Amino acid sequence: MKLGIARERLEGERRVAATPETVKQLAALGLEVLVERGAGAAAGHHDEEYRQAGAAIVSDLALGTLDVFAHVRPLEPTTAAALHRGAVTVGLASPSSELATVRALAEAGVTSFALELVPRISRAQSMDALTSQALVTGYRCVLEAAMRLPRFFPLYMTAAGTIPPARVLVLGAGVAGLQAIGTAKRLGARVSANDIRPASADEVASMGGTFIKLDVETAEASGGYARELSADRGALQRQLLAPHVAQADVLITTAAVPGRRAPLLVSLDMVRQMRPGSVVVDLAAESGGNVEGSVPGLDLEVPTVDGQGVVILVGMKDAASSMPADASRLYAKNVANLLALMVRDGALVPDFDDEVVAGACLTHDGVVRHGPTAEALGAVESVGSKDSANEGVS
Ligand code: NAI
Repeated sequence: MKLGIARERLEGERRVAATPETVKQLAALGLEVLVERGAGAAAGHHDEEYRQAGAAIVSDLALGTLDVFAHVRPLEPTTAAALHRGAVTVGLASPSSELATVRALAEAGVTSFALELVPRISRAQSMDALTSQALVTGYRCVLEAAMRLPRFFPLYMTAAGTIPPARVLVLGAGVAGLQAIGTAKRLGARVSANDIRPASADEVASMGGTFIKLDVETAEASGGYARELSADRGALQRQLLAPHVAQADVLITTAAVPGRRAPLLVSLDMVRQMRPGSVVVDLAAESGGNVEGSVPGLDLEVPTVDGQGVVILVGMKDAASSMPADASRLYAKNVANLLALMVRDGALVPDFDDEVVAGACLTHDGVVRHGPTAEALGAVESVGSKDSANEGVS
């Protein structure tokens, strides 16, 4: 079976879905691996390394001839349509937002696996790209903050005086938030954190952070995810967080609720209460923002309420791509491990009785198998058909 690895097309994306190491793993499974020329260059892997690992380098992947296609970013609908019926895709799919691609995958009869849908269970950890990429982004956002902060993170006791450690506040203590806590601790900061999942207090403590208890916790949803707070409780959380935000030198926000806009945890008024020179990094900027006004890819200057200076508000964008070598190393392993679960004697034969395979499958045989995505698509299509019916009437 032919497995294609594409050069990612989206501007700013520097990761790749296979490394020379995983090419060896995939070739050993009996797959014929084709790598598009230059696919791994931005992640530090040159064509010759892929060739030595057993891949063929091609200038055109000829999508219609591939049996399996591995990718990083969600596919374009035109790419999905170019694949042959029965072809298999593996990669990030953003199913809740990329509905046009989901429709195209189903219409093309492609069996697509979305790495976001891999169940968060122990057996699937080696295939869990959300976790591997959150590890990168959580680490990275602390470095972005440290580079912009006009002071040290660690405590320094010198002959010229003592410098107190920076105070770092992390909101949202999932995988990325816990990495942010660990990274800020390793840099010597004093770190506190808040999350609304009851289990997060122990998780924060295990990374060396101080948990801020606000009494707005909610019961976990299935899969260990957070439930969205009601509007009232969200407002209460912001009110209770305000004094903690005002005390922080660095604020890092990573909160998310699957399939929803990122929760708004910090208003601009709260940012204005921080000291001049403080830094806010909003990792959720691309999914609506935890901080009011954050813009993906931009540094904004927010004047402080005392008129003495500004707070830097950083909207993170493409955070995982900013460390393409290690992000790709982990991502490619996730892809290869999921494929390995489905390959028997050189052929890809997904076993839908396996909860990992069934859970990760987005489309198969013309059907959208992921319930929430099928519902969202149905809702969009029924609005579309009503609109066109209305157009007909008018
Ligand atoms: P995520 O990216 O969906 O959300 C990040 C964090 O934001 C979560 O901890 C969530 O509780 C928090 N959050 C949501 N609304 C909030 C609010 N209003 N205020 C403060 N925090 C808020 O979550 P992620 O990082 O993907 O992890 C979700 C869960 O999955 C966690 O329980 C984690 O331990 C679990 N997990 C399990 C794995 C496994 O067993 N294989 C692997 C990775 C994660």
